[in-house]
Amino acid sequence: MKPKKGRLLTGDRPTGRLHLGHFVGTLRNRVRMQDEYESFFIIADLHTLTTRPERAAIEEIAENVHQLVLDYLSIGIDPQRSTIFLQSAIPETYELNLLLEMLVTVPRLERVPSLKNMASDAGLESMPFGLLGYPVLQTVDILLPRADVVPVGKDNQAHIEVAREIARRFNRLYGEIFPIPRGKIGEELVGLDGQAKMSKSLNNTIFLSDDAEVVMEKVMRMYTDPKRVRANIPGRVEGNPVFIYHDAFNPDVDEVVSLKQRYRGGQVGDVEVKQRLARALNAFLDPIRQRRATFEEQPQLVEDILRSGTERMRSEAQRTMELVRNVMGLPRLP
Ligand code: TRP
Repeated sequence: MKPKKGRLLTGDRPTGRLHLGHFVGTLRNRVRMQDEYESFFIIADLHTLTTRPERAAIEEIAENVHQLVLDYLSIGIDPQRSTIFLQSAIPETYELNLLLEMLVTVPRLERVPSLKNMASDAGLESMPFGLLGYPVLQTVDILLPRADVVPVGKDNQAHIEVAREIARRFNRLYGEIFPIPRGKIGEELVGLDGQAKMSKSLNNTIFLSDDAEVVMEKVMRMYTDPKRVRANIPGRVEGNPVFIYHDAFNPDVDEVVSLKQRYRGGQVGDVEVKQRLARALNAFLDPIRQRRATFEEQPQLVEDILRSGTERMRSEAQRTMELVRNVMGLPRLP
């Protein structure tokens, strides 16, 4: 095996199934990078508490965790090489969180734009202390395995900036034990509605676990050039979500070039363009679905993967906390 360049950490909150927007934003970077980097994938269940601490929400976590592990395995994250773990099962997370909270100011966190949106989306009137600390908790996730690189979507860029500042501050105050983590920011994919980025709350997604029929239905209902009421009207390709998806997921470049040409010339109907897109998407999703089905039949294996990944991360976290306590000079009991 080639020597690895460093460590990678990223992950998701267990709030539902992953979709094509996640794939373009971060999942494909993860799969590509797991050869190069020793990789850790966190299922960030504690982060879900920042907006939904109520009992009923917590009860949904376990099933969502299982689905997220399935999503990871189905896109090709290889549990032999990479570590998938559950955040709340790492006690050092809570421990380092308190120590890092001392290294960032409230006004700095108040300037993180995503937090206000998360609060208002969750219907919260004012900012919970824990939600303000969301980027600090994320920093803990990144620093516990001493990660070098963090592949995330654009929406997380500001959090990575906080992580870099806290890591620098820690290193300067106490000793150089943390790499300054680099964000690897992915692209955004527009949703089926063509109006906003793909996102579960907007109901404009294709899930990695959607079956072929659902994909066909969703594609047929996709937003396209609204001026084109008949097939012989020249259509607009640029910014048209149907063609954005063709570019992203259809490997048959000749087909895509010719469809664009015919679309611009008013020589092809939307139905044909969409049928070909659904075919390409289903061809892309098929191996993902097959891997998912294989793991779905073995729930015990999926649990073992999560358990052993969590044990692996736990020992990394213990090592990091040893270093942290040492360089900070925290007192030890005699
Ligand atoms: N904030 C990420 C999200 O938007 C989830 C997450 C938690 C994360 N900890 C992380 C991502 C550490 C990258 C690194 O859901």
